[in-house]
Amino acid sequence: MYRINNNYLKLENNYLFSKIAEEKQNYLRNNPEKELIDLSIGDVTLPLVSSVQKGIKNGLELLSCNSTFSGYPPASGHDFLKNKILNVDYKNIPIDLDELFISDSSKGDITHILDILDNNLNVAIQDPVYPVYVDSNIIRGNNIIFYDSIEEIIEKKLDVDIIYICNPNNPTGKLLPRETLEKIVSYALNYNILIFYDSAYEAFIQDKNAIHSIYEIKDAKKVAIEFRSFSKTAGYTPLRLAYTIVPKEISNLNILFKRLKSTKYNGPSYLSEYGIYSVYKDNNLHELKENISYYLKNTQILNDYFYFKGMTNEKEVNSPYVWINVKNDSWDYFYYLLNNFGIVCTPGSGFGKNGKTYIRLTGFNTFENTLKAIDILKKDLK
Ligand code: MLT
Repeated sequence: MYRINNNYLKLENNYLFSKIAEEKQNYLRNNPEKELIDLSIGDVTLPLVSSVQKGIKNGLELLSCNSTFSGYPPASGHDFLKNKILNVDYKNIPIDLDELFISDSSKGDITHILDILDNNLNVAIQDPVYPVYVDSNIIRGNNIIFYDSIEEIIEKKLDVDIIYICNPNNPTGKLLPRETLEKIVSYALNYNILIFYDSAYEAFIQDKNAIHSIYEIKDAKKVAIEFRSFSKTAGYTPLRLAYTIVPKEISNLNILFKRLKSTKYNGPSYLSEYGIYSVYKDNNLHELKENISYYLKNTQILNDYFYFKGMTNEKEVNSPYVWINVKNDSWDYFYYLLNNFGIVCTPGSGFGKNGKTYIRLTGFNTFENTLKAIDILKKDLK
């Protein structure tokens, strides 16, 4: 007889963003005449930049011709793109080609990598943070130790096997300074701890002193695995593409990750790869940067409003999110914003207990809708 993995029964009934989507649909069904402004999930709204469009068309032509057709991609992606990523994104950091794994999603890599580690591990996860880390560890039956600030791990000498770091943090947008990252890398080295470093939002960092890759920290290659995604950086949420660095210095994890990839995946989509390849090849990264600036401008507009109201602490934004202290239960506030203003937010409690009285707004909607949302809120937000 089949048996369910009981750990699945320990998950919340709905994934945070599925529940929000459901509430949004219910509202629209009951209020067909009303308009909503969705500032909840971090999903892009600008169309694909022209070099991505061109690359996908080129890729399609290659696949449409006998002499250039190719079938299954390598399980960790094609070298033509891997070389570009290493030469541009990791220009001054020595990473070997076989330490880079291109995939269809960071979410996939960050959850599936747990397959090659033992169960019942102690994992340190920040509260609040992207809920996928928590869910994937619940599924594995791991013991989760929540930390408020990363210094706490060192101060309390937490006995953990893995430390998750999301920098800039989703949802708070906070950046960790280099010194803090140096301390945590050194702690991980001393106690043989693995660091999962999620830098999905590194392209949004504005602070000139901030680090962009964990490998800028000395010896981080001995302990850290870095995850990056093209979803928000290149408008790839509909196309899917991401990459993960698994250094060969970390025991045999590189070989085992390769093994996992070759059994479970057949590599990323050629067309998705070709779209990004075209951006790098033609030196068109400025097109991506323009879109990122557009989203950051929206985020700054939202941030300025709530900063003025004393509801957020950060003056400048370093991510596409604004973390707002609403001093009320976050789901109650979600319904308050939805029903009174037609604005959809993400309730902070979905990111952990520390988010109980917070909401998160995103700058990923259009400039016009962002301004419209501010106008609506200015009228009578309590
Ligand atoms: C977010 O809004 O935090 C993310 O875009 C959601 C996700 O990646 O699943």
